Amino acid sequence: MEAIQRVAVVSGGSSGIGLALVELLHAEGWAVYTCGRDGTRLQDLPQRFPGVQALTCDVTERASVQAFADWVTKSAPRINLVVSNAGGLTEVDFTAANLAELDLVADLRRNTEGAIHWISAFLPVLRSSNPASILIVSSGYALAPATRAPIYSAAKAALHSLSKSLRRQLAPLGISVTELLPPLVDTPAVSHRKGVKLSANQVAAQALRGALSGADEVRPGAVRFLPFLMRIAPRAIERMVART
Ligand SMILES: NC(=O)c1ccc[n+]([C@@H]2O[C@H](COP(=O)([O-])OP(=O)(O)OC[C@H]3O[C@@H](n4cnc5c(N)ncnc54)[C@H](OP(=O)(O)O)[C@@H]3O)[C@@H](O)[C@H]2O)c1
Repeated sequence: MEAIQRVAVVSGGSSGIGLALVELLHAEGWAVYTCGRDGTRLQDLPQRFPGVQALTCDVTERASVQAFADWVTKSAPRINLVVSNAGGLTEVDFTAANLAELDLVADLRRNTEGAIHWISAFLPVLRSSNPASILIVSSGYALAPATRAPIYSAAKAALHSLSKSLRRQLAPLGISVTELLPPLVDTPAVSHRKGVKLSANQVAAQALRGALSGADEVRPGAVRFLPFLMRIAPRAIERMVART
Protein backbone atom coordinates (compact mmCIF):
# COMPACT_ATOMS: atom_id res chain seq x y z
CA MET A 1 0.00 0.00 0.00
CA GLU A 2 1.38 3.44 -0.91
CA ALA A 3 2.28 5.62 2.11
CA ILE A 4 0.31 8.85 2.42
CA GLN A 5 2.61 11.89 2.09
CA ARG A 6 2.73 14.02 5.22
CA VAL A 7 2.15 17.76 4.89
CA ALA A 8 3.88 20.62 6.75
CA VAL A 9 3.43 24.39 6.75
CA VAL A 10 6.40 26.49 7.87
CA SER A 11 6.33 30.26 8.37
CA GLY A 12 9.53 32.07 7.44
CA GLY A 13 10.98 29.35 5.22
CA SER A 14 13.17 31.61 3.09
CA SER A 15 16.03 31.93 5.59
CA GLY A 16 17.75 30.53 8.67
CA ILE A 17 16.00 27.98 10.88
CA GLY A 18 12.84 28.01 8.75
CA LEU A 19 14.83 27.28 5.59
CA ALA A 20 16.69 24.45 7.35
CA LEU A 21 13.34 22.96 8.39
CA VAL A 22 11.98 23.24 4.84
CA GLU A 23 15.10 21.52 3.50
CA LEU A 24 14.92 18.74 6.08
CA LEU A 25 11.19 18.11 5.68
CA HIS A 26 11.60 18.02 1.90
CA ALA A 27 14.50 15.54 2.21
CA GLU A 28 12.29 13.36 4.40
CA GLY A 29 9.54 13.26 1.79
CA TRP A 30 7.08 15.75 3.23
CA ALA A 31 4.98 18.10 1.12
CA VAL A 32 5.94 21.56 2.37
CA TYR A 33 4.21 24.93 2.10
CA THR A 34 6.09 27.97 3.29
CA CYS A 35 5.95 31.75 3.33
CA GLY A 36 7.82 34.98 3.98
CA ARG A 37 7.09 38.61 3.23
CA ASP A 38 9.68 39.03 0.48
CA GLY A 39 8.68 37.05 -2.62
CA THR A 40 12.13 37.34 -4.18
CA ARG A 41 13.61 35.33 -1.29
CA LEU A 42 11.02 32.59 -1.83
CA GLN A 43 11.15 32.27 -5.60
CA ASP A 44 14.00 29.76 -5.92
CA LEU A 45 12.63 27.37 -3.26
CA PRO A 46 10.42 25.28 -5.62
CA GLN A 47 13.43 24.75 -7.93
CA ARG A 48 15.85 23.92 -5.12
CA PHE A 49 13.36 21.64 -3.43
CA PRO A 50 10.88 20.28 -6.00
CA GLY A 51 7.46 19.92 -4.44
CA VAL A 52 7.97 22.72 -1.93
CA GLN A 53 5.43 25.49 -2.52
CA ALA A 54 5.90 29.07 -1.38
CA LEU A 55 3.76 32.17 -1.31
CA THR A 56 4.21 35.59 0.26
CA CYS A 57 2.42 36.16 3.54
CA ASP A 58 2.94 38.52 6.46
CA VAL A 59 2.16 36.69 9.70
CA THR A 60 1.41 39.97 11.48
CA GLU A 61 -1.65 40.41 9.22
CA ARG A 62 -4.49 38.06 10.04
CA ALA A 63 -6.06 38.44 6.59
CA SER A 64 -2.74 37.64 4.92
CA VAL A 65 -2.34 34.47 7.01
CA GLN A 66 -5.93 33.42 6.30
CA ALA A 67 -5.35 33.89 2.54
CA PHE A 68 -2.22 31.74 2.82
CA ALA A 69 -4.10 29.04 4.78
CA ASP A 70 -6.91 29.04 2.20
CA TRP A 71 -4.33 28.64 -0.59
CA VAL A 72 -2.70 25.69 1.22
CA THR A 73 -5.90 23.89 2.11
CA LYS A 74 -7.16 24.08 -1.47
CA SER A 75 -4.55 21.47 -2.39
CA ALA A 76 -3.82 19.93 1.04
CA PRO A 77 -6.93 18.65 2.79
CA ARG A 78 -4.83 17.59 5.80
CA ILE A 79 -1.82 19.09 7.54
CA ASN A 80 0.36 17.06 9.88
CA LEU A 81 2.80 19.71 11.10
CA VAL A 82 2.37 23.45 11.60
CA VAL A 83 5.65 25.27 12.28
CA SER A 84 5.40 28.81 13.64
CA ASN A 85 8.92 30.08 13.02
CA ALA A 86 8.74 33.58 11.48
CA GLY A 87 10.04 36.24 13.81
CA GLY A 88 12.99 38.37 14.64
CA LEU A 89 14.79 40.48 17.21
CA THR A 90 15.03 44.25 17.46
CA GLU A 91 17.36 45.76 20.02
CA VAL A 92 15.49 48.41 21.99
CA ASP A 93 16.95 50.83 24.54
CA PHE A 94 14.31 52.42 26.74
CA THR A 95 16.85 55.07 27.79
CA ALA A 96 17.29 56.26 24.18
CA ALA A 97 16.38 59.84 23.35
CA ASN A 98 14.39 58.76 20.27
CA LEU A 99 12.14 56.30 22.13
CA ALA A 100 8.95 58.09 21.04
CA GLU A 101 9.86 57.60 17.38
CA LEU A 102 10.41 53.82 17.63
CA ASP A 103 7.88 51.14 16.69
CA LEU A 104 8.08 49.58 20.13
CA VAL A 105 5.62 46.77 19.61
CA ALA A 106 6.98 45.47 16.28
CA ASP A 107 8.56 42.45 17.98
CA LEU A 108 5.31 41.62 19.77
CA ARG A 109 3.50 41.70 16.43
CA ARG A 110 5.91 39.53 14.46
CA ASN A 111 6.84 37.06 17.19
CA THR A 112 3.68 36.73 19.30
CA GLU A 113 0.70 37.96 17.28
CA GLY A 114 2.19 36.33 14.19
CA ALA A 115 2.33 32.95 15.91
CA ILE A 116 -1.26 33.30 17.14
CA HIS A 117 -2.56 34.16 13.65
CA TRP A 118 -0.50 31.37 12.07
CA ILE A 119 -1.53 28.60 14.46
CA SER A 120 -5.20 29.55 14.66
CA ALA A 121 -5.55 29.68 10.86
CA PHE A 122 -4.50 26.03 10.54
CA LEU A 123 -6.36 24.61 13.55
CA PRO A 124 -9.52 23.64 11.66
CA VAL A 125 -7.54 21.41 9.28
CA LEU A 126 -5.17 20.17 12.02
CA ARG A 127 -8.20 18.93 13.97
CA SER A 128 -9.08 16.53 11.17
CA SER A 129 -5.49 15.37 10.52
CA ASN A 130 -3.61 12.49 12.06
CA PRO A 131 -0.85 12.78 13.22
CA ALA A 132 -1.14 16.49 14.01
CA SER A 133 1.65 18.53 15.60
CA ILE A 134 2.52 22.17 16.19
CA LEU A 135 6.11 23.41 16.55
CA ILE A 136 6.49 26.90 18.02
CA VAL A 137 9.88 28.59 17.70
CA SER A 138 10.50 30.79 20.73
CA SER A 139 13.97 31.41 22.17
CA GLY A 140 16.18 30.78 25.19
CA TYR A 141 15.31 34.39 26.02
CA ALA A 142 11.79 33.15 26.79
CA LEU A 143 13.25 31.80 30.05
CA ALA A 144 15.68 34.62 30.88
CA PRO A 145 15.57 37.99 29.06
CA ALA A 146 18.35 39.80 27.22
CA THR A 147 18.87 43.38 28.36
CA ARG A 148 19.43 44.55 24.78
CA ALA A 149 16.13 43.06 23.59
CA PRO A 150 13.44 43.62 26.24
CA ILE A 151 10.45 43.49 23.89
CA TYR A 152 11.69 40.49 21.92
CA SER A 153 12.37 38.65 25.19
CA ALA A 154 8.88 39.51 26.46
CA ALA A 155 7.38 38.37 23.14
CA LYS A 156 9.17 35.02 23.39
CA ALA A 157 8.19 34.63 27.08
CA ALA A 158 4.60 35.10 25.93
CA LEU A 159 5.10 32.33 23.37
CA HIS A 160 6.48 30.10 26.14
CA SER A 161 3.30 30.62 28.13
CA LEU A 162 1.11 30.24 25.05
CA SER A 163 2.81 26.93 24.22
CA LYS A 164 1.96 25.53 27.66
CA SER A 165 -1.71 26.52 27.54
CA LEU A 166 -2.17 25.35 23.95
CA ARG A 167 -0.53 22.02 24.81
CA ARG A 168 -3.21 21.39 27.44
CA GLN A 169 -6.11 22.71 25.36
CA LEU A 170 -5.20 20.74 22.25
CA ALA A 171 -4.14 17.45 23.85
CA PRO A 172 -7.74 16.12 23.92
CA LEU A 173 -7.88 16.74 20.15
CA GLY A 174 -4.75 14.65 19.61
CA ILE A 175 -2.67 17.69 18.60
CA SER A 176 0.79 17.94 20.19
CA VAL A 177 2.50 21.27 20.86
CA THR A 178 6.30 21.43 20.99
CA GLU A 179 8.23 24.58 21.81
CA LEU A 180 11.71 25.10 20.37
CA LEU A 181 13.90 27.36 22.53
CA PRO A 182 17.11 27.92 20.55
CA PRO A 183 20.28 29.57 21.78
CA LEU A 184 22.35 31.59 19.26
CA VAL A 185 21.95 29.89 15.86
CA ASP A 186 24.01 30.66 12.78
CA THR A 187 21.46 32.42 10.55
CA PRO A 188 21.50 35.64 8.50
CA ALA A 189 19.56 37.36 11.30
CA VAL A 190 22.54 37.12 13.66
CA SER A 191 25.45 37.26 11.20
CA HIS A 192 26.63 40.44 12.95
CA ARG A 193 26.85 38.79 16.38
CA LYS A 194 29.87 37.01 17.79
CA GLY A 195 29.74 33.91 19.98
CA VAL A 196 29.21 30.18 19.77
CA LYS A 197 26.51 29.46 17.22
CA LEU A 198 24.70 26.20 16.55
CA SER A 199 24.06 25.36 12.92
CA ALA A 200 20.51 25.88 11.67
CA ASN A 201 20.52 22.33 10.26
CA GLN A 202 21.41 20.84 13.62
CA VAL A 203 18.67 22.84 15.37
CA ALA A 204 16.12 21.93 12.68
CA ALA A 205 16.92 18.22 13.02
CA GLN A 206 16.56 18.32 16.79
CA ALA A 207 13.35 20.35 16.55
CA LEU A 208 11.74 18.01 14.03
CA ARG A 209 12.61 14.93 16.08
CA GLY A 210 11.11 16.58 19.15
CA ALA A 211 7.94 17.69 17.40
CA LEU A 212 7.32 14.28 15.82
CA SER A 213 7.83 12.48 19.12
CA GLY A 214 5.45 14.89 20.87
CA ALA A 215 8.11 16.40 23.17
CA ASP A 216 6.92 19.40 25.19
CA GLU A 217 10.13 21.37 24.67
CA VAL A 218 13.28 21.18 22.57
CA ARG A 219 16.17 23.11 24.14
CA PRO A 220 19.26 22.83 21.91
CA GLY A 221 22.79 23.57 23.08
CA ALA A 222 23.27 25.52 26.29
CA VAL A 223 19.53 26.20 26.67
CA ARG A 224 19.21 22.53 27.60
CA PHE A 225 20.63 23.31 31.05
CA LEU A 226 18.90 26.67 31.55
CA PRO A 227 15.84 25.55 33.59
CA PHE A 228 18.08 23.57 35.97
CA LEU A 229 20.63 26.38 36.33
CA MET A 230 17.82 28.91 36.91
CA ARG A 231 16.63 26.77 39.81
CA ILE A 232 20.02 26.53 41.53
CA ALA A 233 21.38 30.05 40.86
CA PRO A 234 18.58 32.17 39.39
CA ARG A 235 20.11 35.62 39.91
CA ALA A 236 23.55 34.72 38.61
CA ILE A 237 22.17 32.90 35.59
CA GLU A 238 19.70 35.69 34.76
CA ARG A 239 22.55 38.22 34.92
CA MET A 240 24.68 36.04 32.65
CA VAL A 241 21.95 35.56 30.03
CA ALA A 242 21.00 39.25 30.27
CA ARG A 243 24.42 40.24 28.97
CA THR A 244 24.35 37.96 25.90
N1 LIG B 1 19.08 32.85 14.98
C1 LIG B 1 19.05 32.79 16.28
O1 LIG B 1 20.09 32.91 16.96
C2 LIG B 1 17.74 32.56 17.01
C3 LIG B 1 17.79 32.26 18.37
C4 LIG B 1 16.60 32.05 19.05
C5 LIG B 1 15.38 32.11 18.38
N2 LIG B 1 15.37 32.40 17.06
C6 LIG B 1 14.04 32.46 16.41
O2 LIG B 1 14.05 31.62 15.28
C7 LIG B 1 13.14 32.11 14.30
C8 LIG B 1 13.87 32.20 12.96
O3 LIG B 1 14.97 33.09 13.11
P1 LIG B 1 16.18 33.09 12.10
O4 LIG B 1 17.39 33.44 12.89
O5 LIG B 1 16.14 31.86 11.26
O6 LIG B 1 15.81 34.40 11.24
P2 LIG B 1 16.02 34.78 9.69
O7 LIG B 1 17.18 34.08 9.10
O8 LIG B 1 15.96 36.27 9.67
O9 LIG B 1 14.69 34.22 9.01
C9 LIG B 1 13.43 34.74 9.38
C10 LIG B 1 12.40 34.22 8.40
O10 LIG B 1 11.11 34.67 8.83
C11 LIG B 1 10.51 35.44 7.77
N3 LIG B 1 9.71 36.49 8.39
C12 LIG B 1 10.11 37.47 9.24
N4 LIG B 1 9.07 38.24 9.59
C13 LIG B 1 7.99 37.74 8.95
C14 LIG B 1 6.61 38.11 8.88
N5 LIG B 1 6.14 39.17 9.55
N6 LIG B 1 5.77 37.35 8.14
C15 LIG B 1 6.23 36.28 7.44
N7 LIG B 1 7.52 35.89 7.45
C16 LIG B 1 8.38 36.62 8.19
C17 LIG B 1 11.69 35.96 6.95
O11 LIG B 1 11.34 36.28 5.61
P3 LIG B 1 10.95 37.81 5.19
O12 LIG B 1 11.95 38.71 5.84
O13 LIG B 1 11.02 37.82 3.69
O14 LIG B 1 9.59 38.02 5.70
C18 LIG B 1 12.60 34.74 6.98
O15 LIG B 1 12.15 33.77 6.07
C19 LIG B 1 12.64 33.46 14.84
O16 LIG B 1 11.40 33.29 15.45
C20 LIG B 1 13.70 33.84 15.85
O17 LIG B 1 13.22 34.70 16.85
C21 LIG B 1 16.52 32.63 16.35
